[in-house]
Amino acid sequence: MAEVRDRPPEQFTLRLRRYDPESGEAPYWDEHTVELEPHRSVLEGILQARDKFDGSIGIRCSCRQAICGSCGVRVNGEASLACHTHLDAAKRGARDGVIEIEPMGNMPVLKDLIVDMDAVHWKKIQRVTPWLLAKQPVPEREYLVSRESMVDVTQTMACIQCGACVSDCLAMEVDPGFIGPAALAKAYRFVGDPRDDQQFERLNDLAQDPQGIFDCTHCFKCVDACPKDVNPMGQIMRLRRIAIGDHHIVDENNGERHEAAFTTLVKEYGLLWEAELLPRSYGGNSRFGKFAPAAAKELLSSLPAILKAVLHGKVTLMGALKPHKIPKRDLKSVQAIYEKIESRKERYELNLYITGQDEDEASSAAPVAAGAGAESPAAPTSPEGSANQ
Ligand code: SF4
Ligand code: SF4
Ligand code: FES
Repeated sequence: MAEVRDRPPEQFTLRLRRYDPESGEAPYWDEHTVELEPHRSVLEGILQARDKFDGSIGIRCSCRQAICGSCGVRVNGEASLACHTHLDAAKRGARDGVIEIEPMGNMPVLKDLIVDMDAVHWKKIQRVTPWLLAKQPVPEREYLVSRESMVDVTQTMACIQCGACVSDCLAMEVDPGFIGPAALAKAYRFVGDPRDDQQFERLNDLAQDPQGIFDCTHCFKCVDACPKDVNPMGQIMRLRRIAIGDHHIVDENNGERHEAAFTTLVKEYGLLWEAELLPRSYGGNSRFGKFAPAAAKELLSSLPAILKAVLHGKVTLMGALKPHKIPKRDLKSVQAIYEKIESRKERYELNLYITGQDEDEASSAAPVAAGAGAESPAAPTSPEGSANQ
């Protein structure tokens, strides 16, 4: 570490996206060259440019150590905390050696690199009732909960509300009404908390909302963007698993049916049979799904999308009539994965943020049951096992 810090100052050129909506002028790029030690942060570079060259550069920051979540920007196209991104690393990732810094995406720009978090991020957080709806009667002193339950929600508690995941969420780009990764991760924080009294109600609400848990497209962008390893997509998948697996919630958006059809098709054929997916999602999870009246109605309304898929060669007549084929040996390998997962006595998920181990490494470690919050007895109580927050 000492060696890194001993490196002498170098020049770094920053290309900043500037925009002042009140000026009536279009956004533009602005370049400044700063001189700093390479291990310094992009935020320090921006602040130096502001101090030395242009005091009107807009940037929001506070702690400068990845804690307050206020300095979210896009560096070379990817959401990051400016104070948590080293200048040398940013330069290596730049297309032409110039570090490109823009405001975060999916949120309106207030000025230059400052976005309006209230207009999008905080509204969505409020949408998921981000507080505990306590089980009654409230104990006189404190709730006693299992250590596992607290470990289970700690990953979501690590969120610093920086909005990086919101910025890069592809589903939100297409559907700005999507509740989004940060708010859904926050929802898991209470769904997974054994002291909360409204697990079913919360999940049912988020499942029935057309812009809720089934609106996520599994693109992993939020996982990559998060500086705190909250793994928002993973939390959304956990919400789905508890909603479907534990509460058997069947949503009006076909999310549950779509997921069932998807997994059944992959299990049966080793690959997704796209042409079967839609009818099965709408009409029922079998070859007869397409003949169900509900499927016909939905298929009719999906005609424009189907035509587009045909025009782009994504669906062909043969593809619609016959599933893809893979070698038998490969199909068996795919099905072996299903057997392994389905034969488990209980569903479990390891919290990588806490264990730092993947599933194989951790096979000897005690698993944390998903939804343990709701189901596991509020038992092993040591001083560390109690929670009162
Ligand atoms: S995985 Fe889902 S929530 Fe995360 S960025 Fe992609 S679409 Fe958004
Ligand atoms: S989940 Fe991660 S990226 Fe999203 S707001 Fe929280 S800390 Fe930031
Ligand atoms: S300034 Fe606080 S997280 Fe960057």
